[in-house]
Amino acid sequence: MRTFSPPFRLWHWLSAFSMFGIIVTVLLRKTVMHKEQIGGIVQTKLAELGTVITDEQAVMIGKAVRSPMWDWHIYFGIAIAVLLVWRVLMVLKNGFGFDENPSMKRVYMLYRAVYVLLAVMSLSGLSLYLKFAGESKELVEGIHMYIGYALFAFVAVHIAGVILAERSDQKGLVSRMISGG
Ligand code: HEM
Ligand code: HEM
Repeated sequence: MRTFSPPFRLWHWLSAFSMFGIIVTVLLRKTVMHKEQIGGIVQTKLAELGTVITDEQAVMIGKAVRSPMWDWHIYFGIAIAVLLVWRVLMVLKNGFGFDENPSMKRVYMLYRAVYVLLAVMSLSGLSLYLKFAGESKELVEGIHMYIGYALFAFVAVHIAGVILAERSDQKGLVSRMISGG
C-alpha cells in the first residue's frame, strides 16, 4: 500500500488548492467577469446618465475591472510553477514513489503526463505573462488554453478516480493523502 510522506502531502494539497484557484479565475473570466459583459453594463449605465461610449471603450473598461481578479490567475500559476520545481527536486531525490502494483500502471502514466502538461502550462503561462512569446503569441495562447482545459478534465477524472478507488480496493486512500500512513 502506498504511503505518502509529509512533504509529498503538503505538495499535493498546495497543488490542489492552486489548481482550484486557477479554475475559479478561468470560470470568472468566462462568466460574470467577462470583459464584454462588464463593458456592456458600464456602457448601459453610462448611457442612462447621458454619456455615450463606444464598444471598444466599453471593453477597455471591462478589461480594467477584470484585471485585479485575473492577477490571481498569475499568482496561482506561479505557485503551480514553483510547486512543480519542488516536485521535480523530490523525484530527483527519492524517485516518484509509485508502487509496483501493475493495476496502477496506467494511473501512474497519467500522473507522469500531468507533470509534463504542468511544465508546458508553467512555461507557456510565464512566456505570455512576461511577453516572451513575440510572433508566436497566438500559438502559445492556444497551447496554454487547450492544455489548460485538458488539465481541468484531469482534475475531474482524478477526483472521480480517487472516489472510485476509495470505494473499492483502496479504502483509506484519501485519509492517507491527508494524514500519511
Ligand atoms: C479534492 C481533490 C483531490 C483529492 C481527494 C485528491 C486525492 C489524491 C490521492 C488520494 C492521490 C494518491 C493516488 C495514488 O495512490 O496514486 C493523489 C495523487 C495525485 N494528485 Fe490528487 N487529489 C485531489 C486534487 C488534485 C488536484 C486538483 C491536482 C492537480 C494538480 C492533483 C494532482 C495529483 C497528482 C499529480 C497526483 C500523483 C502524485 C504522484 O504520485 O506523483 N490532485 N491525489
Ligand atoms: C496549471 C496551470 C495553469 C492552468 C490550468 C491555466 C489555465 C489557463 C486557461 C484555461 C486560460 C485561458 C482562459 C481563456 O479561455 O480566456 C489561461 C490564460 C492565461 N494564463 Fe493560465 N493557466 C495556468 C498557469 C499559468 C501561469 C503559470 C501563468 C503565468 C504566470 C499563466 C498566465 C496566463 C495568461 C497571461 C493568460 C491569458 C492569455 C490570453 O490573454 O489569452 N497561466 N490560463
